[in-house]
Amino acid sequence: AEGNAEAGKKVFNKCATCHGIGDKKGAVGPSLNGVVGRTAGTLEDYKSKYSKPMVAAGAAGLVWSEAELAAWVADPKKKVPGTKMVFPGLKKEQEIADVVAYVKSFSP
Ligand code: HEM
Repeated sequence: AEGNAEAGKKVFNKCATCHGIGDKKGAVGPSLNGVVGRTAGTLEDYKSKYSKPMVAAGAAGLVWSEAELAAWVADPKKKVPGTKMVFPGLKKEQEIADVVAYVKSFSP
């Protein structure tokens, strides 16, 4: 199904405890501004904090497309084994599509 950014804003509350987006600052995780199209593990401000597996995934070619983001939020530990993002994953396809649409609205 198509993602709905407006609905995704509410889903993003589950991410906002750790991630900043827009003009909100995050504490634990990297900012998600501009993440669609970005190589994994390469945000300059966060570089010293990424896990080794995340940096390695980016070096191996992982770029956060909409499809890769959907797979990531569905099951972070499956997508990047050893990641330090502690999040069980979203189960509902519609929530996944919606949160990806919301995150994408902050990317060029
Ligand atoms: C990494 C998205 C929930 C903490 C990431 C990355 C994305 C992302 C795209 C990779 C960013 C990059 O490569 O620069 C999301 C979304 C969430 C969510 C959409 C909600 C559905 C959370 C939560 C936490 C968290 C709840 C904290 C408990 C982190 C951390 C990293 C990360 C620490 C770095 C992981 C590593 O280096 O292995 N997240 N996240 N995230 N996230 Fe999340």
